[in-house]
Amino acid sequence: MDRIDARAKVTGAAKYASDHNLPAMVYGHMVTSTIGNGRIVSMDLSAARAAGGVIEIYTPGNRPAFRGTLPPPLAPVFAEARHPLADSEIHYYGQIVAMVVAETIEQARDAAALIKVTYTALPPKSSFEDAKQNPADPPVTGLPLGQPIKKPQDVDIETALAASQVRVEETYDIPPRHHNMMEPHAAVAAWQNGKLTIYSGTQGPAAHALELATVLGVQPADVHVISPYVGGAFGGKAFTWAPALLAAAAALALARPVKVVTSREQLFTVTGHRAASSQTFGLGTHRDGRLNAIKHHTTSQSIVEDPGYRTTPKYYLAPNVDIRLMVTPDMNLPTATIMRAPGDEAGSFALESAMDELAVRLGMDPIELRMKNYLESTLIEAKPYSSKHLDACYRVGAERFGWSRRSTQPAAVTDGDWQVGLGMSTAILDSGRASTTVRVTFRPNGTATVGCATSDAGTGMWTIMAMTGARALEVPVDRIRPALGDSGLPVAGNNDIYGAVGSAATSTVTPAILVAAKEAIGKLVEHATTAAGSPLVGAGDVRYDGGRLVGAGTSVGFGELLTLTRTAEVGAQGTSAPLDESHAYASYAAHFCEVRVNRWTGDPRLGRFTTVVDAGAILNAKTARNQITGGVLFGLAAAMFEEGKVEGATGRISNANLADYLLPVNADTTEIDVHFLDHPDTRLSPTGARGIGELGTVGAAAAFANAVYNATGKRIRTLPITPDKLL
Ligand code: MOS
Repeated sequence: MDRIDARAKVTGAAKYASDHNLPAMVYGHMVTSTIGNGRIVSMDLSAARAAGGVIEIYTPGNRPAFRGTLPPPLAPVFAEARHPLADSEIHYYGQIVAMVVAETIEQARDAAALIKVTYTALPPKSSFEDAKQNPADPPVTGLPLGQPIKKPQDVDIETALAASQVRVEETYDIPPRHHNMMEPHAAVAAWQNGKLTIYSGTQGPAAHALELATVLGVQPADVHVISPYVGGAFGGKAFTWAPALLAAAAALALARPVKVVTSREQLFTVTGHRAASSQTFGLGTHRDGRLNAIKHHTTSQSIVEDPGYRTTPKYYLAPNVDIRLMVTPDMNLPTATIMRAPGDEAGSFALESAMDELAVRLGMDPIELRMKNYLESTLIEAKPYSSKHLDACYRVGAERFGWSRRSTQPAAVTDGDWQVGLGMSTAILDSGRASTTVRVTFRPNGTATVGCATSDAGTGMWTIMAMTGARALEVPVDRIRPALGDSGLPVAGNNDIYGAVGSAATSTVTPAILVAAKEAIGKLVEHATTAAGSPLVGAGDVRYDGGRLVGAGTSVGFGELLTLTRTAEVGAQGTSAPLDESHAYASYAAHFCEVRVNRWTGDPRLGRFTTVVDAGAILNAKTARNQITGGVLFGLAAAMFEEGKVEGATGRISNANLADYLLPVNADTTEIDVHFLDHPDTRLSPTGARGIGELGTVGAAAAFANAVYNATGKRIRTLPITPDKLL
């Protein structure tokens, strides 16, 4: 089924956060620091204050009153704990130092350029290369976005590695990567009678409302977040950042609606990014390929990037495992946050590259090596997986892709100016769901609303909710009105999975729709037998069948029934049962990649890509395929292009724009062949759908790097794989 929001999006009818304009609205423009470490000595605002249209300039000297702090685990781990304009200390280049509010956006921007800030600058600690030499233990371990991850038993990993017959030990480096969703963070805030209405793109409207309320010191019920269209998110809009806080605070202080839009350059510093990481993998096997030891030591700027605990326990069986995460604290870099497949993107690149290196050393086919170490239950907690068909993914993928035609000898195949190589990798992503509430409401016009405060960040949630509602109420999909992106709707999820994060929106919301539909049908049947005007009053056994109430030799459609009984709506809420914790849940894919490397320029190009996916039931093949192709491209972007460049002397991100920070475009890609196995995961939920949003990203860079090795004989362990590394 096509996306029901597609036409609105491509015709411009869909209103994103910054598209909202309110009467008497004014514009806030953020000003950011031009040093990476130090403090503000003075700010000369005189020229800016005198500029046309300027209403107010907020600085640390007259900062808005923020009352509360984001609760852990949101801060300080996933979002910036320090309030915008909290003090005169500068922690990183690009930190917010002021916000100008003016009658027009142009006036706000012009005045911002007239502000003169004098700093005392210290040398910034912004080089991850330097900082990783002296890492520290993290304050906490593991992402609280899924199952708790326990530390494996302490083992003497060096002895276990030394005792292994075949070994690989290498280090894999991932640079910082920056969120570049289509609509940078934007907010339009307005207060009326002490209540805030805010248009702000978010993955979790209710969570956003709660976070805003906490910081602003008001009741959550007094904050109304509206976000039907998100403008892209990928984790960047999972938590609350400065633009929404500043818009809300300024709107309150000025008693006028305020719009704040993050510039593309500011997006690189004020709203979170994927932290750099450096991972050392040691793998030791017996001669037959069975793993004896896995050592996975990571150093990252932030515990958000936690490849060890996120990735390694899900992949392969080994008796000796040692996973460690170290961090580089107090760096003068912007705050890190989650980004599509946090931890797993980096972890899968390192692990699946190391497995390829091991296969080379063993003289074994990479798929055979993976099958030798196949996991049927989680490595550390030994929980059985609910449903796992990764073996079929390998088999079907190898067949579709033509894996048997791969030369086991690297740098052996050329096609004119191009060296051609094939590589593969495994993708595994934790799957889960939260217990969630949905409201289903029947209306006299024959439609039914299915509502939940979840979000559609481009994922297809509008469509999935409509389709699932249609299935549950046994009516055509055009009679279902999905409702999402509004904090006034029933809350999606709990503290584990809150809104559309962790690839869990579909698996979380769809089972709750089934429960709510059943509750609502119960209410409707009761209404049919009791409400004045109903042709079924007093009838004995009334049942619901295909949108109609049937009994006593007659039947009536629900719209007609509500019309006859002069009732505006009949509905109910329903809450899904908690997840069965006796099993572990994950989605799987086998990626196959052909790379072509120019013999003279070293330019690596994507040739072909096939992925075979086991993600439970596929509810909509079209949106699911979009998610996987988008995810694969996201991962290939890390493989080929994306790298935040930090200037050593200043801590400035020197490529904070879409000209210098490279992203793949259509010419960089090719048709991505996506094939779904369809094995509904009925232990996870009655709809059987697991997560797919992040799955394609996982492992994609490793498949590319492994194909580069096969094409050239060069093993690149530092992303991105740029031409200079292949010459
Ligand atoms: Mo996703 S990085 O959990 O929004």
